[in-house]
Amino acid sequence: MQISRALSVTLHDYEPQAGDMRAEVLAGLTTNPKTLPCKYFYDERGSELFDAICELPEYYLTRTELAIMQSHAAEMATVLGSRGLLVEPGSGTSTKTRLLLDKLHWPCAYVPVDISREHLIKAADQLNRHYPDLEVLPVCADFSQAFALPAPHHPAARSVIYFPGSTIGNFEPDATVALLKQLLRLAGRKGALLIGVDLNKDRTLLEAAYNDAAGVTAAFNLNLLARLNRELHSDFNLKRFQHRALYNPAEGRIEMRLVSLDEQTVHIADESVHFRAGEAIVTEYSYKHTLPGFAALAAQAGWNVQKVWTDDRRWFSVQYLTAG
Ligand code: TRP
Repeated sequence: MQISRALSVTLHDYEPQAGDMRAEVLAGLTTNPKTLPCKYFYDERGSELFDAICELPEYYLTRTELAIMQSHAAEMATVLGSRGLLVEPGSGTSTKTRLLLDKLHWPCAYVPVDISREHLIKAADQLNRHYPDLEVLPVCADFSQAFALPAPHHPAARSVIYFPGSTIGNFEPDATVALLKQLLRLAGRKGALLIGVDLNKDRTLLEAAYNDAAGVTAAFNLNLLARLNRELHSDFNLKRFQHRALYNPAEGRIEMRLVSLDEQTVHIADESVHFRAGEAIVTEYSYKHTLPGFAALAAQAGWNVQKVWTDDRRWFSVQYLTAG
């Protein structure tokens, strides 16, 4: 881990490795079906495109979660208590966090954790300007791997993990339990978790949210291949792959794929990867949980659901959990 300074920011950098990226990408493209790790969506361009997705009329998730935060942040702040260390894995632009920070009682520090270094530094710098009295301690890390929390100036009453955006939905059930266990270790015995969980609903609404008319989601999905071309010098032809998102009701998840339009061979480092016409790379699953289903997964990891806030249509939930 390295500590560096950029803009107004002191960065704790675990330097998630480019070497790991090549190994993980090759491993994913040699399984059947082919897969790519979804965490690599979020380079500079991918993060921008994701921010654009969040503004799309079809993408109800962000808007609904923001509305829940707007209506209930004060009550959330009360249950979370004062002088908490607020930790956010996958913080992005920290937009929802501001709603919480505005209401929290004497937050002791804010720790945004993100794999996208430039995005993280910019977001932390803006938070420093907007909240001059708040200590902001950004960590550049892959949050699915273990990392240590930086020590704040003032001791914290408890750690509160804020995990909005239904990012938890992008993990399969076993991985969900593993990640929730990891977050419990990070938060400690007295710790709390405030988590956004997208809920199961009508298939038409779900598929529209991941197949927007303007094609931003398609561009976001394809940017993964563009990134591999940029960083691993692969030769994916973006015109020969197509974005597809379908709901799988048996698994309760949206399945995102990049489909090869014809038979082709792609070169990555010293390897070649062959595609049949119509063969797909699975790039992400997005699980749509039920309230009891999510509570059961959380319980397997040692978390107890204490309170659930939803919108009137019950499309999305923000849930408060405690350890033990
Ligand atoms: N975490 C987001 C979600 O599941 C990510 C996302 C939105 C996404 N649209 C996408 C991932 C399209 C891949 C392709 O809602």
